Amino acid sequence: MALPETPIAEPDPMRSAIAPLLLGWYDRHHRHLPWRTAPAQLASGVRPDPYHVWLSEIMLQQTTVATVKPYFAKFLDRWPTVLALAAADPDDIMKGWAGLGYYSRARNLKACADVIAADYGGQFPDTEVGLRSLPGIGAYTAAAISAIAFDRTAVVVDGNVERVVTRLAAIATPLPAAKGAIRDYLGSIFPANRPGDFAQAMMDLGATICTPRKPACLTCPLNDNCAALAAGDPEHYPQKLARPDKPQRYGAAFVAMRDDGALLLRKRAGSGLLAGMSEVPTTGWTARVDGERTVEGAPFAANWEKCGQIAHIFTHFRLELHVFRAKVGAYRAVSGEWWVMPDTLSDEALPTVMKKVIEAAIPGATQAPRLKGRP
Ligand code: ADE
Repeated sequence: MALPETPIAEPDPMRSAIAPLLLGWYDRHHRHLPWRTAPAQLASGVRPDPYHVWLSEIMLQQTTVATVKPYFAKFLDRWPTVLALAAADPDDIMKGWAGLGYYSRARNLKACADVIAADYGGQFPDTEVGLRSLPGIGAYTAAAISAIAFDRTAVVVDGNVERVVTRLAAIATPLPAAKGAIRDYLGSIFPANRPGDFAQAMMDLGATICTPRKPACLTCPLNDNCAALAAGDPEHYPQKLARPDKPQRYGAAFVAMRDDGALLLRKRAGSGLLAGMSEVPTTGWTARVDGERTVEGAPFAANWEKCGQIAHIFTHFRLELHVFRAKVGAYRAVSGEWWVMPDTLSDEALPTVMKKVIEAAIPGATQAPRLKGRP
C-alpha cells in the first residue's frame, strides 16, 4: 500500500481490532453498487475502473445512492470512457445531468474529462495531489478516488464517516470543528491494507447500520468499540452547529403553450445559478416580499392565468415561484427561445425547479410518454 500524501495519525494498538472487524463485516455485507469493485473481485485481481470511480464520486456529492444509480447507468451507456465524455457535446452532458442538481458538477465533469484527454492521455492521475489539480475534484473526492481506484492510503471523510467516527469516539465537539479529531481517530484505526475497502466500509456502515436515527447497534460489527453506545446515547452524535436560516426569494414563472401543445423554453445565462440550463421565462428571483410575483413580470402580453406556486430549496436560498400559464397561438419565439412538445421534455436540460413549474402548469407534462415516430 502506498504511503499517505496527507498526514495521517499513527495506528493505536488499543484500537487494532476495529479495522479487521469493519473489513470482515464489509466482506459479508457490503452494498452492491454499480460503480463498485467488490472485495472478492479485488482479491482475484480485478482493478476498479478510475473513470467509474470518478464519475460516481462526482455524482454522489450531495446526492443519494438511489438517485445516482440511473444517472450513472445512463452516462456509462452513452459515454463509456472518459475520452468519449471529453468528445461529447457539453449541452448533451447538461441534458444528461438534468435533475441531479448542483449543475456546476456537470460543467466541471466535461472540463475534467477534457484535461484528462488533452494532458493525461486518457488516464487519471493516481495521486491525491494530481487528482486535486483537476476541475471539480476537491480534497474529499481526491482522497476517495486515490483510495478506491488506486489503493492509496488516504483518509476519506464524508457525512456518513463523520457520524460513525463521532459515535465510535464519542466526539462531542460540534461539526465542523470536530473534523481534525475525526481525521486523527481514523488515522489511529487505519488498516495496513485495503484503504479503498476501508473507506467504503465506513460509508456503508454509516448508510446501513450507523444511521442518523435509530442506529442498528445490535447488529453493528463495532458495537463493542463504540464509546457513544457505551454511554447509552449514540444518536447524540454528531453534534452540529445550528445553521443560519436560508433567505427566502420570490419570483414568477410563465408557461406559454402553443395550440399544438408545445411549450416555450429558453436558455439561462452562461454563468451564475443553473448556468446554461433550460427554463421557461421567469422574472428575476428577488428577495423582496412584495414584488416580482405577479403577471406584471410576464415576458410578453398574453392571457396569463395563475395556476399555482412551487417551492424549491437551493444551497443558499429558498425560492417560491408563482406559476402562470397561457395559450399563446400568435407568439413567435425569438432568438434563444424554442418550442418543445411535452413528450420530448425529458431530452431538455431542465433543472428540477423548472420541472416543478411545468408540472404546476400542466400536471403530468414532465412524465409524458414519448410519442411513436419521434426520434
Ligand atoms: N458515497 C460517496 N462515495 C461512495 C462510495 N464510493 N460508496 C458508497 N457511498 C458513497
